[in-house]
Amino acid sequence: MMTSDQIRASFLDYFHRQKHVIVPSSSLIPADDPTLLFTNAGMNQFKDVFLGLGERSYKRAADTQKCIRVSGKHNDLEEVGYDGHHHTFFEMLGNWSFGDYYKREAISFAWELITEVWKIPKDKLWATIYLDDDEAEKMWIESTDLPVDRILRFDEKENFWEMGETGPCGPCSELFVDLGVEADPDFKGEPKDGVNVSDRFREFWNLVFIQYNRDENGQLHPLPDTHVDTGMGFERIVAIMQGVDSNYKTDVFKPLLDEIANLTNQEYVDGGGGVPHRVIADHIRCLTFAIGDGVMPSNEGRGYVMRRILRRAVLYGKKLGMSSPFIFNLVDTVVDRLGKVFPDVLPRQDFIKEIVKGEEHRFHQTLDRGLDILDGLLDQIGAEGKSVLPGNRAFELYDTFGFPLDLTQVLANERDFSVDEDGFSESMETQRNRSRAAWKTAGEAGYDSEILSEILKESGKTEFIGYQTNQTKAEITAIIHHGELVSAITEGDEVSVVLNRTPFYGESGGQVGDTGTIVAENGSLDVLDTQKPTPDLVVHKCKVIDGSFTPRIFANAQVNRERRQKIALSHTATHILHNALRKVLGDHVSQAGSLVEPERLRFDFTHYEAVSSSQIREIEAFVNQKIRTNSQIAIAEMPLQEAKDRGALAFFGDKYGDIVRMVEIGDYSIELCGGTHINTTGEIGLVKIISESSIAAGTRRIEALTGESAYLHQRDEGDLLKDISGILKLQRDQILERLGKLLDANRDLERQVKELQSKVTMNRTTDLVDEVISVDGISILAKVVENIDRSTLRNMVDSFKKQLESGVVVIASINGNDVSFIVGVTLDLIDSHGLKAGNIVKEVAEIAGGKGGGRSDLAQGGAKDSGQTKTAINAVAKIVAAQI
Ligand code: ALA
Repeated sequence: MMTSDQIRASFLDYFHRQKHVIVPSSSLIPADDPTLLFTNAGMNQFKDVFLGLGERSYKRAADTQKCIRVSGKHNDLEEVGYDGHHHTFFEMLGNWSFGDYYKREAISFAWELITEVWKIPKDKLWATIYLDDDEAEKMWIESTDLPVDRILRFDEKENFWEMGETGPCGPCSELFVDLGVEADPDFKGEPKDGVNVSDRFREFWNLVFIQYNRDENGQLHPLPDTHVDTGMGFERIVAIMQGVDSNYKTDVFKPLLDEIANLTNQEYVDGGGGVPHRVIADHIRCLTFAIGDGVMPSNEGRGYVMRRILRRAVLYGKKLGMSSPFIFNLVDTVVDRLGKVFPDVLPRQDFIKEIVKGEEHRFHQTLDRGLDILDGLLDQIGAEGKSVLPGNRAFELYDTFGFPLDLTQVLANERDFSVDEDGFSESMETQRNRSRAAWKTAGEAGYDSEILSEILKESGKTEFIGYQTNQTKAEITAIIHHGELVSAITEGDEVSVVLNRTPFYGESGGQVGDTGTIVAENGSLDVLDTQKPTPDLVVHKCKVIDGSFTPRIFANAQVNRERRQKIALSHTATHILHNALRKVLGDHVSQAGSLVEPERLRFDFTHYEAVSSSQIREIEAFVNQKIRTNSQIAIAEMPLQEAKDRGALAFFGDKYGDIVRMVEIGDYSIELCGGTHINTTGEIGLVKIISESSIAAGTRRIEALTGESAYLHQRDEGDLLKDISGILKLQRDQILERLGKLLDANRDLERQVKELQSKVTMNRTTDLVDEVISVDGISILAKVVENIDRSTLRNMVDSFKKQLESGVVVIASINGNDVSFIVGVTLDLIDSHGLKAGNIVKEVAEIAGGKGGGRSDLAQGGAKDSGQTKTAINAVAKIVAAQI
């Protein structure tokens, strides 16, 4: 029997022999694709090639791709753990043709691999094709010996594949294996009626014939070329090849299930009892690789999805009796199995464990509260005589505490309640739409891919010469105005201009776009920003200052030099900072994002706790020391592998071609980077870190000033200090000590003032005793005062009580719109007349629209409507009389 590692290797080996280049899996964070939350198919990294916007140096490729399907169009989350063949995270084996071979070879490669190399019995295989795809049927008949009655046709739901709401798509042909009658004893029909219906027929390979792009309006547009995109569920094919009916029975999952059994002391069983083990085994794979690729659990976007998944795993862990973190231990098992296949995860192993452990811990704390709330909700519903938990309530539990619907159902059922599932789905849908909308606006590049591909077709790529120069003569190849290609523009228009070559750097890799001017014989453009909506096109966002422009004229493109220099020094500073962070905090630090601007930079990175101020000092000192050494910056292009061998750091949010640009500073920093840099570090001058903060669990952000702005900042701080020492008439080194003393003295004075105020107030109270009235022989003093704090009020009441010896004291103190009441009753009246301060204050405060209560001898209350104070105080006599 082949092991899973052998099966993977044999797939890649087969396609290697068919002249495919074996490429690495891309990150789970799709590069430059705002339409997608997670990489959900092997083809994602080639989307630009299919759309005609990018190129590769090869026409055939194959790989195993890390995929996550928990959001958007492809979402398998609810099935996970309940069946044996859906996962949040899985490997997709794939082979691709970029405008090279098409249906015939795609089908014959697939057939040869599974029947000749892997020897899956032919009589167990079925194929499906798209309704009208006669060509695919012809290829199956001509290139394989699959009988024609085992080729079935299905509509777009089954046989038209799309990666998302928009993007490359086309008809597909899927391969199924018949697992035998015992795989689904309930299915009694003809085999041909079971495909896409019964679990007896397991789909395992999808061959997509990419030929359209679906746009935002849902319209299909034929692509310039036809392509092949295939995807085989790795864990499924392993199960098939190892002759088991569930992916969890393969060597992919067994070590994980064993370790879960070991950690929880709960044996793993097939069937329903094994759901928790399976869910946890699945989820930890997903978490390990997502966090490894830089997705930190958080409250939004991708991080939100991961937090959910982690919480789901914790909840199932609870079912296994686990009430403290244990799932993080499984990271080792995952990395053990797959570290060789996806080596990016190796250096982050400990970091991933930290993050999972921290999240587990925090969730256990919230969880107990969630269970309480569910209990409370069910009590309440029960008291109202109902038996259904409203869907929006179940959703709140899901949203706030991460309770999956099935768990809430189980808990509710235990108490004979049910859950309104439709209501839950409705709330969920509303939420999804919200997050989808937020996601889109966050990333939309704003250019129509068809227009871009038309420009590329007509005029080719923009040649970027901004590494060598700031200025060039160039031809205007296209002008976009209001989203359309236009043939003329005039003064005042805001337009996007494409040149055949440009020195302008288009925003990418965190570095902002250049500004400058484009000047032609008949007019001039102000370049306000520069974008790079595809790797091959640079688009200048311009305003027409004067004259008019048409495509095909020549112009002089000039970058704003001074601003560019400031950006370049910030960029080099960013690399040094990255290096400093790894030196001071450790190698688990990796870049999670950055913003490189003139005068300042922002750097986001993975780290599990706040960076202390002494670490910040150390980091800043390191950076500035490197500036003073005035190291050379050396930039070279080389094959990706060579750069990696030399230890270059790559940013996992970026997409790299076969040839990469390596930026090396002195002998301490090597990174892959497409940005613009200075020649020697001394040009930076100074870096000043101005803030350090958390942006998500496990992700920190540092902001720093660079160059002149760092200097100006320091100068202003120095001036401020000078002013302070001038005002205090002190030397600088005396300021801190003296300031401490001044603050202490000030606190003392405040205390004294308060004491005096209180004494003055008490003295005044002596006069007030004259205002005592008598009701049924009981002395009552009811008074309004202003702006007196509660403790003084209490003292006043005590003092009155002493003076009266026997009586009721009610004082209202007005403070703006608020009023507080305090009531005292002497002990003799409590005994003899049953008077209670708490009851009195309650009624008095109610008159002013407030509340109150307390002991029998002393009670307090308050209200928000001080306008009613007089009325309340006037009512005291009546209230007391009524309570005697
Ligand atoms: N992209 C295709 C899929 O994911 C192969 O099924």
